[in-house]
Parts: sequence; C-alpha cells; structure tokens
Amino acid sequence: MTAETRARAACLIGWPAAHSRSPLIHHYWLRTLGIEGGYNIEAVPPEGFAEFVLHLSAHGFVGANVTRPHKERALALSKPDARARAVGAANTLWYEGGELRSTNTDIEGFVGNLDACAAGWDTAEDALVLGAGGASRAVVFGLLERGIKRVHLANRTLERARALGQQFGAGVHPVGWETIGELLPRAGLLVNTTSLGMHGQPSLHLDVGRLPSHAVVADLVYVPLQTELLAAAQARGLKTADGLGMLLHQAVRGFELWFGQRPAVTPELRALVEADLTSA
Ligand code: ATR
Repeated sequence: MTAETRARAACLIGWPAAHSRSPLIHHYWLRTLGIEGGYNIEAVPPEGFAEFVLHLSAHGFVGANVTRPHKERALALSKPDARARAVGAANTLWYEGGELRSTNTDIEGFVGNLDACAAGWDTAEDALVLGAGGASRAVVFGLLERGIKRVHLANRTLERARALGQQFGAGVHPVGWETIGELLPRAGLLVNTTSLGMHGQPSLHLDVGRLPSHAVVADLVYVPLQTELLAAAQARGLKTADGLGMLLHQAVRGFELWFGQRPAVTPELRALVEADLTSA
C-alpha cells in the first residue's frame, strides 16, 4: 500500500501500555462519521521515544496522543503552541506543513466541558482551584484565557501554588490549604484538580453549603464517575462538570487535527465510555 491509499491512523504513545479509553473514543468517532482510519496504542519505552516521534510519519501515523511518561519530551521534540508551552507538557502531536506540531488539549477539554455542562460559568469573578500539579496548570490557563478575574489557588504544598502564580501573573492568588473554608463563599467556580476523592485516595472534605447559590463545581476526578464533591454539589442544586466530560472533550481537537472533521461529544459516546469505566 502506498501512503496515499493507506487509511490515516493516529496512535497513543505511552510506557508501559496502560489501559486507555482513547481508542474507544476515536473508534466511535471514526465509525459514526464514516471515516476510514485507525487509532492504535503504541507502547514505546523512554529510550525509544525520540526515534519514534521524530519518525512518526514513517511509522505510519498522521499524529499521536502522548501520555505518561513522555509528555515533557514530546514538547521538547516538536514545535509547541502557546497552550503546550504554558502547561509545560504536550499530549497531542500532528503535522502541519511537514513540521511536527504539538499542543495540550487538557485546556480545551476542561473549558469545553464547562461550556457544555454549565454555560455562563465564565461570568464568575472569583474561582477557587484546588491543587497545583500538571492538571491545575491547564485549568488555570483556561480560566485566565476565558477572563476569570481572580483565580485563588489552594495547594497543600504552598510553594507549588506560588510557583504557578509566578508563571501566570497577577490573576492568580496562591493560598494555603487552610484558607479554603473562608474563600468558599465568594467562589463562583470551584475546581478540584487534586487526587482527593479518587478511588483509593483520601476524601476531599469541604462544605459545599458555603458556596454561593450560583456556584459551579468541577471535579477532574473520573473514577468514581460521581465523586462525593459532585454529589454534594448536585444535592445543593449547583451545576457541575465531571472528569469524564473533560476526558471526552479533550479528545475532540486531536481527532479534528488528524482526520479533518470536528467530532461531537454525544450522550451515546459518554454511555459507551461510562460502561467501559464501570466494567474495569
Ligand atoms: P496531576 O498532574 O494530575 O495534577 P500531580 O502533579 O501529582 O498530578 O498533582 C497532584 C495534586 O494533588 C497536587 O496539587 C497535590 O498536592 P501537593 O502539591 O501538596 O503534593 C494534590 N494532592 C495529592 N494528595 C493530596 C492530599 N492528601 N491532600 C491535599 N492535596 C493532595
């Protein structure tokens, strides 16, 4: 087969080959949009990563997702956009004019999910973000880009919140973990980016009753699908955005870059991935 007749294919590069929902998501879109294409998992060890990525096309791929432990190397080996640079990690690669480009789609995954679940969320003046790791970087970038005035960033290790604040400037206010309680009453948006509440991790103890009645609550954790935080927020009648929604929305741009059509996050796709998560 020549390159012209071969179906377009993308892949997920990681090490070790972890169980991922990405093939399920991209195969669903290929199927429902009637596109002949593929999406494979490629287990590539760190010592083979540069060769693989620098010859992605020769390996048969028009682009790729990148996961642990390769996201920082992917950034260094490609021409990143502003989003990948801001997060310090790339999770999506594609070719543009023969050049290997990269971005980080967690930002639009987070923002796209909020737009879908809680339209108008960006009228909040104050957001409270819990956690200052890699996921938090994407969240903070997305909030500032959408014009949130003050992002209060609470982290167990205050130094990490301060470092992120320095990177993003005056819109970010690093605070200690003990300050969360007093910030809740003015948080129009609350986002958990920590691992608290994840299956096997400690709970996130927080009184959602102190949030304003118009607050929106987002949790990046998606195992379990409904965290205690989201359940408590919904019980109070607050709008919520969950981690699975973000996972689905972050896959949209990669698909569009590789296969040329912008896919939709449908209830059917969500049900498919939910079934896979609950059977795992
Ligand atoms: P990710 O890339 O998914 O953001 P990470 O960089 O390991 O992962 O960040 C994990 C986040 O969860 C951090 O903000 C971490 O706080 P520290 O910076 O203090 O480590 C937070 N986290 C993890 N366990 C926690 C706990 N028991 N209490 C509070 N925060 C916790």
